Amino acid sequence: MNFGGSVLSPDWPDVESLRLAAESVRELVRRKHEVLVVVGGGGPARRYIEAGRELGGAEALLHELGIGITRLNARLLAMALGELSEPRPPTTFREAVQMMLRGKVPVMGGTVPGHTTDAVAAMAAKATRSSLLVYVTDVDGVYTADPKLDPTARKLERIGVEELVKMVGSRVSPGMRTILDPVAVKVLQQLRIRTVVIGKGEIPRIPLIAEGEKHSGTEILMG
Ligand code: UTP
Repeated sequence: MNFGGSVLSPDWPDVESLRLAAESVRELVRRKHEVLVVVGGGGPARRYIEAGRELGGAEALLHELGIGITRLNARLLAMALGELSEPRPPTTFREAVQMMLRGKVPVMGGTVPGHTTDAVAAMAAKATRSSLLVYVTDVDGVYTADPKLDPTARKLERIGVEELVKMVGSRVSPGMRTILDPVAVKVLQQLRIRTVVIGKGEIPRIPLIAEGEKHSGTEILMG
């Protein structure tokens, strides 16, 4: 499961959203689902990256700034989960799986420079052979165009992964903004797991959506 930074920390950490996210993870665990959570960096990550860019930081170092913030956000969600998780975010999938084997919910931020936490979530889903991948974003699904820029944009109930590839392009720059990052979409192309993109309003319903109930977001159809 991926909680976008734009949801949990749009400008600054949003305690209410962090609580909501923690509650839905708690309910999933109560319902005996195994959960791995990935958290984005949001506004603070973008600001750090902008500051670093103005100071002449190299691309890889700008990505590292973003990773640092995603891990801080992960710590906040882990804090909200208390005993269900552990304070230190795993930095590799191996560490995340080890945490799951200890019966805890891993809450990760980024891993290595060059992609966003969207890609981390897709890679984590692949590494753990998950049966469902959920993206919670500030836009409540995949639209025909960016709804913040184009008033005629329409939300899609479903989209084929190949169409999504065309939509997001292929270049990743530090702090970039597309509904899902191109690296994530490339990983999804190789996956055969149910993937949904939903908005913040659906957070309390994630446990039901995981069990097949309808939602107001977008289903990504594989191959
Ligand atoms: P985010 O995952 O927060 O990107 O990573 P985002 O597109 O802004 O997503 P939301 O809206 O917060 O969910 C922030 C930046 O951190 C670097 C990238 O530069 C990314 O743009 N990053 C993150 C990495 O280099 N590697 C990672 O594994 C994660």
